[in-house]
Amino acid sequence: MTFKRTLVTSALPYANGPVHIGHLAGVYVPADIYVRYLRMKGESVLFVGGSDEHGVPVTIRARKEGITTQQVVDRYHELIKRSFAEFGISFDVYSRTTSDIHHKFASDYFRTLYDNGKFIEQTTEQFYDPETGHFLTDRNIRGECPHCHAQGAYGDQCEKCGSTLSPEELINPYNAETGNALVKKPTSHWYLPLDQYQSWLENWILENHKEWRPNVYGQCKSWLDGGLKPRAVTRDLDWGIPVPVEGADGKVLYVWFDAPIGYISNTKELCDAHPEKYGQWETWWKDPQTRLIHFIGKDNIVFHCIVFPSMLKAEGSYILPDNVPSNEFLNLEGDKISTSRNWAVWLNEYLEDFPGKQDVLRYVLTANAPETKDNDFTWADFQARNNNELVAIYGNFINRALVLTNKYFNGQVPAAGELTDYDKSTLDEMQHSIAEMIRLLDAFRFRDAQKEAMNLARIGNKYLADMEPWKMAKTDMTRTGAILNMSLQIAANLEIAFRAFLPFSSEKLRGMLNLPELTIEHLGHFNLLEDGHQLGEVSLLFEKIEDETIQHQLDRLARIKAENEQKAKQEELANWKPAAIKEATSIDDFDKMDIRVATVLDCQPVKKSERLLQFRLDDGMGERTILSGIAQSYPDPSVLIGKQILFIANFPSRKMMGIESQGMILSAVDADGKLVVTTVSREVKNGCQVG
Ligand code: MF3
Ligand code: ZN
Repeated sequence: MTFKRTLVTSALPYANGPVHIGHLAGVYVPADIYVRYLRMKGESVLFVGGSDEHGVPVTIRARKEGITTQQVVDRYHELIKRSFAEFGISFDVYSRTTSDIHHKFASDYFRTLYDNGKFIEQTTEQFYDPETGHFLTDRNIRGECPHCHAQGAYGDQCEKCGSTLSPEELINPYNAETGNALVKKPTSHWYLPLDQYQSWLENWILENHKEWRPNVYGQCKSWLDGGLKPRAVTRDLDWGIPVPVEGADGKVLYVWFDAPIGYISNTKELCDAHPEKYGQWETWWKDPQTRLIHFIGKDNIVFHCIVFPSMLKAEGSYILPDNVPSNEFLNLEGDKISTSRNWAVWLNEYLEDFPGKQDVLRYVLTANAPETKDNDFTWADFQARNNNELVAIYGNFINRALVLTNKYFNGQVPAAGELTDYDKSTLDEMQHSIAEMIRLLDAFRFRDAQKEAMNLARIGNKYLADMEPWKMAKTDMTRTGAILNMSLQIAANLEIAFRAFLPFSSEKLRGMLNLPELTIEHLGHFNLLEDGHQLGEVSLLFEKIEDETIQHQLDRLARIKAENEQKAKQEELANWKPAAIKEATSIDDFDKMDIRVATVLDCQPVKKSERLLQFRLDDGMGERTILSGIAQSYPDPSVLIGKQILFIANFPSRKMMGIESQGMILSAVDADGKLVVTTVSREVKNGCQVG
């Protein structure tokens, strides 16, 4: 199959917060590298992006911040759009799913499928808050986890024990925002019957797209092996695109139905505005000679490989994706990146701390791209890659080649010489790396492709170090000139090789070399600068990053971690509810317990133990010693002396820290999670039984 053009999409980020390094590494930098590479090849390519402004996450953010949902998406759409522009993500269009064009397009798309009988309608029982009159989504339902019995587990997941849940499984489910108890109520929705697409998908993906990345192919296979079921494409919500069907009041299109249609409507928006430049949107979406590529993160695979293609197939006139290069996740300093926990490096904040250093981040994120498995971003690695690779290899080579040319030849490219054997083998090595880089770019292997680009710089750097033109200059100016000519030709190649990865640095380097934008056809040619060509002004391509700068970032993360721990504790207390009543007991069982009252004669911390207090008690028959693990809750245990407390007298004796403990003291838990020894409300006789 030969293609005439390529349509590249990158997942539409939710406009519920700023974008962070995980977004950039997973989706936008690889997509941008690919698009820039195709443009360098002179291919016809369109790069479509935009903000995903519907769905529950934005409505949650709005309530948290106390502003309207529209205000939330307005704010973050602008911020995200600006961040992408600042990092050189070169979209042809970056629009949004709240646009009129999109609303109409997605609504019409639904209506077409509806009119052609592509949906089935089903009624199910869903959780409903009778006080607010709303159906709730999984994430907005909380309750007790059926597995670990933590309070405040979510309808889709318990964050305490990590189990995946459905709201049905929660014990005593309630509305996360109002705390109201929920009831079940029937509601009807439209479903896309994915089961009807099963065999078509099996053939299309499992047979005809074996070249997809193993992580993508594997996830598709496991979904297909599990058997596809109809999926609801509407929701009971008041934020979204109204379902364009009579009597569907209060229902909107499911965000995962409308968002991918955003790729199409954004293309239409651009093409309708500039048909002379971009042509007709249908050419991009319906001509089989268009190659469609979706760049996404791994949590989006099922939607882009199974659901959206089924939607396109149901309509019938659209092309399907040719490839879906999906990345795994990037972690930050060993922990999962999380918007809600503020565990991220936000792009807008990065630029405040590292102005002008967009390419450094692009470089590090590509060098560590989570292409085949989850990967980790650390500030130490960021510093090392900047200082040891960008500065010490690429930057150093460029700087030496240019400074020496200024010094010995007034910034004019000296004449090339006869190639020595060493020159020839250097060029051979470079040709090999260039061919590898191209092969890897075509295979969506950006991490390894960038390694080859850096390898070119390494070869150039080694060439200069080995040739030592500064020594040669003492004896042979012609040969010195030839070495510098070769070095400058290598520099011009580096500008092209790095352009897709580090666009800002390549632009800067073009200025220093005083060259126009050459194309990929020039790559591998070492006659790009003519003899006598005047170079531009020299400046540093990259700068060293100091330890203090890195420490500043690490301190910030440590602060956030401490804040999160504090918050988690507060939330746990705020969500505290009495545990469910234990299974019924009997009088006999109860009678076996000998609970009594005693007066505390003395109470001391046990030496060398952080946990234990030693009680000396008057139990009405004499003295008794009991150890209790409550030292953390009583920094001054003497406050207990003279109190009458409850204890279990027939609890088996045991030795701890060399002391015999004869019973167990009964405690409760206060609002801060501290243990409180139980007492009686009026004086009683020591040794009397409680029952
Ligand atoms: N907003 C989604 C996310 O961040 C991605 C939507 S991609 C699209 O996971 F295809 F729906 F646009
Ligand atoms: Zn749990």
